[in-house]
Amino acid sequence: MKLTRRSTLLGMAGGLLASPMLTKHSALAATPKNLLMPKLDEGTLVNGVREFSLAVAKGQTEFSPGILTDTVGINAPFLGPVLVLRSGENARFNVANKLSEQIALHWHGLHLPASMDGGPHQPIEPAAIWQPEFPIRQRAGTYWFHAHQHGKTGEHVWAGMAGIIRVEDDEEASLRLPRSYGEDDFILVLQDRRFDETGQIPYAPNMHDKMAGLQGDQMLINGQIGAELSIKAPLIRLRVLNGSNGSIYRLHFADGRGLTQIASDGGLLAAPVRLSDSLLAPGERAEFLLDTSDGTPALLRAEVFGAEAPFAGSNGTRDLLRISPGRTRKTQSASLRGLGGPQSIPVQTGEHRTFVLSMSGQGMMGNLLINGAGYDHQRIDFSVTAGSTETWVFENRTEMLHPMHVHAGQFHIVSRNGKPPSPQESGLKDVVLTHPGEVVEVRMTFPDYSDKQAPYMFHCHILEHEDAGMMGQFTVV
Ligand code: C2O
Ligand code: CU
Ligand code: CU
Repeated sequence: MKLTRRSTLLGMAGGLLASPMLTKHSALAATPKNLLMPKLDEGTLVNGVREFSLAVAKGQTEFSPGILTDTVGINAPFLGPVLVLRSGENARFNVANKLSEQIALHWHGLHLPASMDGGPHQPIEPAAIWQPEFPIRQRAGTYWFHAHQHGKTGEHVWAGMAGIIRVEDDEEASLRLPRSYGEDDFILVLQDRRFDETGQIPYAPNMHDKMAGLQGDQMLINGQIGAELSIKAPLIRLRVLNGSNGSIYRLHFADGRGLTQIASDGGLLAAPVRLSDSLLAPGERAEFLLDTSDGTPALLRAEVFGAEAPFAGSNGTRDLLRISPGRTRKTQSASLRGLGGPQSIPVQTGEHRTFVLSMSGQGMMGNLLINGAGYDHQRIDFSVTAGSTETWVFENRTEMLHPMHVHAGQFHIVSRNGKPPSPQESGLKDVVLTHPGEVVEVRMTFPDYSDKQAPYMFHCHILEHEDAGMMGQFTVV
């Protein structure tokens, strides 16, 4: 039954449109639904600790009308809530594994003790509850949490194991920025999925997907296909996460109006940055302001790339989201010259380390390596002195793009091929996209938490690359 219904829908779409691969979802959305925001979860305050209960479980999701897709979610059938954390508070999470296999749940971008990080060394057994607890020592910003089980990150995130973390602090709260969730402040989780004839999303990367990163032909925003956003507020804030396994998006508005970026991975920039487009790799976040006070609808689009983009080119352009303003209203374009983001890069006090990204073997079929080695769960690669500031250099000697991510906090990009970073990359980052042949230097102050046993990870955030072993681990002592 499922099969017939879906085939009919797709058949219709194919007949109506010239390019069904990229636009079939637009036809499916002939009656556009309003984009739903993930549920906001503020936890409950128990003896001064903000406590959250998260259940990771199987669900079914109706991505297309009448078709139920098997998914995994966190307190929801697919994806999870937006966890609201306040800087300075203590937070505790009760993460219940309702699946029949081991999982891990990682707090991407948070500064925390390594044993609370939720990486591959903190697996949660079926039916078990993991209870990490740590203080929130973090700038306000958009972070996220996602699956991180050893060798299974790609599969679990693809099924839906991911959610958003929204950190608030007094500094951000004092600025005249939109921050009413679902009214003038919106989350956009960008993902793509490949559906089979029965409407399911099996995780089945072929050889090519393992190299390019798994990509889909249907765009999901917050787990929805073809939704639109109608807004009443004249000035809105879009918090965008690239939560895809392998797709890199070059975001832009169809009418060329440009983007105003106010925040990157680790919170607000020093000042708003005007851009014609914005490149977002898996794991990266960016926040934008959009002024629609003149009443013109805006269409957010993305040119889509895989990791092999340098020789394979783009996969085409997709419409992501139509944003329709209500009645027009003039805004007094808030005086947003300063946002309080970082102005200068800290000085190096610890080591200088180089990480050569390479590929063994011939052409596109080798293993992805960091300093000549693939990930070994038993091997800690090095240790960093607690509280020190190190400079790390990523040398991409492959033909592919690799968004490199370091756990435990944020870094500053010092240079790309010897040149200072662009303004939109001058804020705090925890993922940096490296291009073939590029040498990217970052500087990071490591946690003052010390742990001889539990390591932090650093890896490529193309999830198929990570699972294939493009990952290393270090302790902070
Ligand atoms: Cu977003 Cu190791 O993770
Ligand atoms: Cu992370
Ligand atoms: Cu990679």
